[in-house]
Amino acid sequence: MDLTGHTVVVTGASSGIGAAFARAFAARGLRVTGLVNNAGFGASGLFAESDPDRLLAMIALDVAAVVDLSHAFLPDLIAATPSGFLVNVASVLAYQATPRMAVYAAAKAFVLSFTEALWEEQRGSGLRVLCVSPSSTDTEFFDVADPDGTTRRPRAATPDHVVAAALAALDREDPPPSIVTDDRFVPVLARALPRRAMVRAVGAVQRRLSRPRD
Ligand SMILES: NC(=O)c1ccc[n+]([C@@H]2O[C@H](COP(=O)([O-])OP(=O)(O)OC[C@H]3O[C@@H](n4cnc5c(N)ncnc54)[C@H](OP(=O)(O)O)[C@@H]3O)[C@@H](O)[C@H]2O)c1
Repeated sequence: MDLTGHTVVVTGASSGIGAAFARAFAARGLRVTGLVNNAGFGASGLFAESDPDRLLAMIALDVAAVVDLSHAFLPDLIAATPSGFLVNVASVLAYQATPRMAVYAAAKAFVLSFTEALWEEQRGSGLRVLCVSPSSTDTEFFDVADPDGTTRRPRAATPDHVVAAALAALDREDPPPSIVTDDRFVPVLARALPRRAMVRAVGAVQRRLSRPRD
């Protein structure tokens, strides 16, 4: 994908994965004909004990803003083909219900489903549409999702690794609708196991990661 002389919009580029996207695009010498809906945050904790306003703010950013910006930019992105692209950042948690991150995982499941549907709708237009689902990545995400540090941090990839996987997928002749960076085990398991077994297994992992409160 030759992006020289074009322009890209990256949301949430102040840190983490968004900052890595911005650096990678700058290195390609481009401005923008692409949109990366990356801004997002999560919140750990039992749903019943969560602040409903924070959960609704999460849905506004992780879901509503993705729909809003995708719709607003779509005509320009299509006009920019073959350079035009739309990347929406979901999460590996999009592939399964996740106790203790129930709303976040559901929001990212929306992003995955929405983006894959757009991929199919836009196949004739030549617009590259891709959903990127990172697994655990070393950013400020966990400081925001769990400010009290009550949850143990899983092993994490680097933001540059996530972005390299995304750009490699976009560079393909016929990009797939979605990729998972690193943890491909969970999506495969989610397809193979009965839903009851999968959600109970994920619930058990989440309980283990959750440190007992003092
Ligand atoms: N890190 C992971 O393990 C992981 C795994 C899967 C998916 N993801 C997804 O990856 C994306 C990027 O997250 P990250 O890991 O890079 O985390 P991060 O370092 O916390 O970066 C999040 C970005 O989103 C912006 N943002 C947060 N709340 C916002 C709001 N209300 N309005 C506008 N911008 C807002 C932040 O801007 P400010 O700094 O100005 O708040 C920041 O630029 C998110 O969609 C996240 O859900 C992350």
